[in-house]
Order: sequence, then structure tokens, then C-alpha cells
Amino acid sequence: MTYSPVAACDAPAAIAPLLPVADAHAEAPLVDGTSVRYVNLDYAASAPALDAVTRQLEAALPYYSSVHRGAGYASQVSTALYERSREVIGEFLGARDDDVVVITRNTTDALNLLATAVPADAGDVVVLDVEHHANLLPWRRGACRVVPVASTLAATLAALDAEVASAPTALVAVTGCSNVTGELLPLEQLVAIARRHGARICVDGAQLVPHRRVDIGALGIDYIALSGHKAYAPHGAGALVGRRDWLDAAPAYLAGGGAVREVTADSVEWASAPQRHEGGTPNVLGAVALATAFQTLSLLPQGELAAHEHALAERLRDGLAAVPGVSVLRIWDDSTDQVGVVTFVVEGHDSGRVAAYLSAEHGIGVRDGRFCAHPLVARLGASSGAIRASMGVGSRDEDVDRLVDALAALAAEGEGWSYALDGGRWVPSPDTRRAPGLPALGITLGSSLPASPCEAH
Ligand code: ALA
Repeated sequence: MTYSPVAACDAPAAIAPLLPVADAHAEAPLVDGTSVRYVNLDYAASAPALDAVTRQLEAALPYYSSVHRGAGYASQVSTALYERSREVIGEFLGARDDDVVVITRNTTDALNLLATAVPADAGDVVVLDVEHHANLLPWRRGACRVVPVASTLAATLAALDAEVASAPTALVAVTGCSNVTGELLPLEQLVAIARRHGARICVDGAQLVPHRRVDIGALGIDYIALSGHKAYAPHGAGALVGRRDWLDAAPAYLAGGGAVREVTADSVEWASAPQRHEGGTPNVLGAVALATAFQTLSLLPQGELAAHEHALAERLRDGLAAVPGVSVLRIWDDSTDQVGVVTFVVEGHDSGRVAAYLSAEHGIGVRDGRFCAHPLVARLGASSGAIRASMGVGSRDEDVDRLVDALAALAAEGEGWSYALDGGRWVPSPDTRRAPGLPALGITLGSSLPASPCEAH
């Protein structure tokens, strides 16, 4: 069987990157000794930095200093940058005047914080079983009810409504977009369900915010949690944005300097939120990166990012439909909208091994495994793992075509190299690729690299 590269077919109009990103010209070595432009189809795990973010950080670094803790000029600049970043993050998300913006490490951190703030007597937390672990596990420390999703969104919303109605519910915690399938959830209807039964709603925005604008004030969302590293902003910041009362009443999330007003040998007067939950020296560069990414995304014409991702995802789904043995996963029969995320399995091929092949022989980065969403992946019948291609502002049609061509070549001709399980991950054997020459830190690739315990084979 032979295959025809997509590039050789009648090519539809080019889909070019919307914004410049840091990895646009990154090279990936292949096991055959050549190298190619790296194709990043792993935006949903961590998206590349926007060039605007890189420039901003370079400009800020000379003034990098301690936030809230110094009279020096650099410390004053850093404090102003941090607090202005907090404002920009809130504005981008449509925060109400009395909302709080807590700078966290990431979505997991934000949701763990909120889990400590749900009043004990307010009722349970209700979640869907499609959530990734960050929006499942924090709630299990308290009273949590999990609603199994149905085969349609309509039936899922009805089941959620019935569950919330069945017992006192403090909070409905739900993702705005599946990290596995990219399917979007209807936020207006979810807010209406929570409101109808006197509950609050928290939207896990980790996979939503990098792709679609969300106005929590206009939608009536009480809390939103998100990660900078998925929103083109490296440097380790995320955010929890929402209602002040629970956050002011909660115990300090991270006890330490900056979270207090007064400390004696045997007493503490805690600060109000957000400082109450930001103990220790704040991550000013992370906050600046996140705010700059949001400012840059806000300059895109309305709908342009969604249209860009739709075009790429449609091209990918069309391409995959022509590759023997490929099945695309989805949760709901009636979902109508999704972001630039396409997850699939290849019949007769281990997903981890396919991902290793794509990397080693084609210079393509995807995520494989169970995506920190074990219950959902099991529900989709892919307990041994799947392959996720995810795209964003720096993606182009050629990225999609490279993936489709590589999978078509796999189906037609098989692998061109040997692979072995090593430390729970499939790796090329031998792996002839060398690490890039980076200043200062010497790194090696290959078998010494640990796999996440929840993704190892
Ligand atoms: N960070 C996880 C992902 O890649 C949840 O989807």
C-alpha cells in the first residue's frame, strides 16, 4: 500500500499562524541523523510562549526584584508590574469590581485553593466525570458527588440538574472544555443549573481560556481557574478569579510572609484575599507573562482564533478519516463546538509507541496516554491510552499535514526504526538524537528521563 502526502494533493488555502510564538523555528533531530522543523501539536499540555510575552519578560528582567517587600526602584517596579498584571488578568476574564484575582501556580493549585474555601455547611461539590484530575481530586477531600455524563450533552445537563437538585450543593465545578476531546460545554446552561438550585459555579478554564474569550461577569460565573502555561505564558503562574467572601473567610492557603497583617509569638492576623492566599514572595514574572499573553490575545479580532482552530481541526479530522485504522474520540453525539484539539487511537498500534514514532521519525510532538483524565479516557474505551493533537495561535496547515502524512506512512509502511519500552515509555532504540546546545545546563535525552507515574505503561 502506498500513500499520497497531503502536500502533494490539491492544497486548500493556506492556514498561517495567527501570532508569532517562541518555537516557530525550533529544529527537531530525527533518529536517521537529519533534522526538520519541529511541529508542535501539543499546545493543550503546554503552549509555546508568544513572542510578545518573551519581549515583555526581557524588558522586565532588569527590574526583577522582590514584590511588596522593598523600597528600591526595582522592587517598586516589580510590585507595580505584579499588581498591574493582576488587574489585566481580571479585566481579560470579565471579573466584577469586588472579585478577587489570586495568582496561583496553575489550575491544579487554583482549584485546590478553592476546595479549601468552600464553606463546610454550604453543601456538596458536584462535578461531571469527564473532568481532568485537577477538577476531580481536590473536591474529594470534602463532600463531592460525581455525575456520569450521558451520550448527549442535553441528557448530561439534565442529569447534572437532577443531581444538583437532589441534595444541598455549594458548588458546581465543571470544565469549560474537555482536555481530551476539545468539546466545549455550554456555559450559560451550566450557570443556569447552578443558579436554579442556589449553588455557585466554578469553571475550570485551563483548556478554555487559551482558545475562547470568557467573561465571567457577563455569564454569571462565580469562579474561574486557569493555567498560564497553557495560555502562551510560561514562568509558572495561573489564577483563581472570583467571589471575595469565601476567599476572605478561608484559611490562608499557604501560611507565611505576605499573607499576614500582624504576627505575635502566639497569634496571627491574616490578610484579606488575595494576599491571604499568596504567602511567600510572589511570582512576578509568571504574572507578567500571563497578563501579557492575555493582552496580546485580546487584540485578535473577535472570532479569529476560533475560526483558525476550526479550520485546522477540520483539516486534521478530514485527513485522519482517510488513514486506515484511525478513530477520533468524542464524548457527546450532539456537541457542536470544539477547540483545536483532536484525540484519536490507531487500531493495532500502541498510542505511546505511535507518539514515539511521530517524534523520532517525523519531528512531531503530540501527547499520548490518558491525559490526567483517567475516568473519561476509560469511558471513551481507550484505557490503554490515546494520541492527542492540539493546536493554537502558532499552528499552520503544514503542521496538520505533517501529522496526517506520518500516520498514513505508518499505516502503509510501518515504522522505520526500532522502539522499546523504557521506564514506562516507548523510546526509539537506539535513540541517536542529541539534546540541543543550550548555554550553562548540560542535558541528555533518553532513558534517564522519568515518565509521569499516571502515564507509564
Ligand atoms: N495538563 C493536562 C493535559 O495536558 C491535563 O491535558
